[in-house]
Amino acid sequence: MKYARIIGWGKYLPEKILSNQDLERIVDTSDEWIYSRTGIRERRIATPDETVTTMSVAASRAALAIAGLDGDELDLIIVATSSPDYLLPAAASMIQHELGAEHAAAFDLRAGCAGFVYGLAVGTQFIATGMYHHVLVIGAEIISKFLDWQDRDTCVLFGDGAGAVVLQASEEPTGLLACCLGSSGADYDALFVPGGGSKYPFCQEVLDRGWHHIKMNGRRLYRFAVTTLPQVALEVLAMAGLAPHDITLLIPHQANARIVQSVCERLEIPEERVFINIHKYGNTSAASIPIALCEAVEEGRLNPGDHVLLLGFGAGLTWAAAVVRWGVPELSISRLFSWNFIRECVPVSEATVTARRATALLTVLTHCLWQLFPGGRERSL
Ligand code: ACO
Repeated sequence: MKYARIIGWGKYLPEKILSNQDLERIVDTSDEWIYSRTGIRERRIATPDETVTTMSVAASRAALAIAGLDGDELDLIIVATSSPDYLLPAAASMIQHELGAEHAAAFDLRAGCAGFVYGLAVGTQFIATGMYHHVLVIGAEIISKFLDWQDRDTCVLFGDGAGAVVLQASEEPTGLLACCLGSSGADYDALFVPGGGSKYPFCQEVLDRGWHHIKMNGRRLYRFAVTTLPQVALEVLAMAGLAPHDITLLIPHQANARIVQSVCERLEIPEERVFINIHKYGNTSAASIPIALCEAVEEGRLNPGDHVLLLGFGAGLTWAAAVVRWGVPELSISRLFSWNFIRECVPVSEATVTARRATALLTVLTHCLWQLFPGGRERSL
């Protein structure tokens, strides 16, 4: 059975920032209330030109560049989203076209904010069975379009964005090692958009009742998250043969800093081993975990061999926990000098290209050294 190594990562956040102070001018709220209850300072809001498709394409191009792949090398594109451009067709198909991924199958996956981890699990299965070699998994949302900007219970919480990873078949035990997925459909109405689906298609009544907006019972979600997440975290760790102290980094769904704090206390994971960016982006739903993963890599918080715990929960209600062993991209010498790799560096100077090649070569050499002397890294830490 093959493993699914993460060889590329990328993110896209709209430039437009909406701060808590901005919100104070829209609804009866305050920076103090929002920050103390949620940990959010500001969030990004898509402009009318930005869609789930455009944001996903931008995040995916960044991920493909790091992976050193062209779109047409992809076999499958999975887009975790609850806010696609259209009810029909799937955003994945339009993204496939934009990326030139002409050989790829493509579909959307809806599992609320847990969707990206669900997507990672699905993509990994396709690779494990040997059916596909390269899979792109995206988490992307424009929840701002479904918010009632007069409802202070919800409009202060969410933001827009997209994150993506590229998976590649590997013989080494890397990528997703274990996952635990679940759903509690009895709680479907704790977070939902009542109108616009086939039960209540768009009509004047749907608009008059405000059923095209997100309805949320925050306390129910809070209770669900703080009781379910520690349990599934321990379950998935046991499946991977690990304990909480083996985890280098916990990347939780960025819904509420207090939920994350409570989960970490129960798991006895110290805060320096938890990745939080909710203060900058708010809750970006299915995009929150891939965006956070991407930023964690960019900040140098993950090294080859590290174990990452991903914890998601959301509308459904759904949950998803996964243990990922981080690996480095398998950069072959031939790819190092390939046109793809050089193009990744454009537009940059010759000196930058050379510097990038040198860095990549160093990465490969370091990786080889770790393979030859696996104890060396631990001793040097
Ligand atoms: N500004 C000021 N006051 C507010 C605001 C606001 N933005 N929103 C609510 N309040 C008021 C309420 O009206 C209430 O006032 P009252 O006591 O006079 O009735 C008071 O603040 C307290 O309300 P609570 O609901 O008890 O506040 P709580 O401490 O539970 O925090 C929150 C609310 C932040 C929503 C919290 O319950 C939460 O984070 N729940 C989880 C939400 C979540 O995770 N959602 C998304 C998950 S799934 C996904 O990501 C798609």
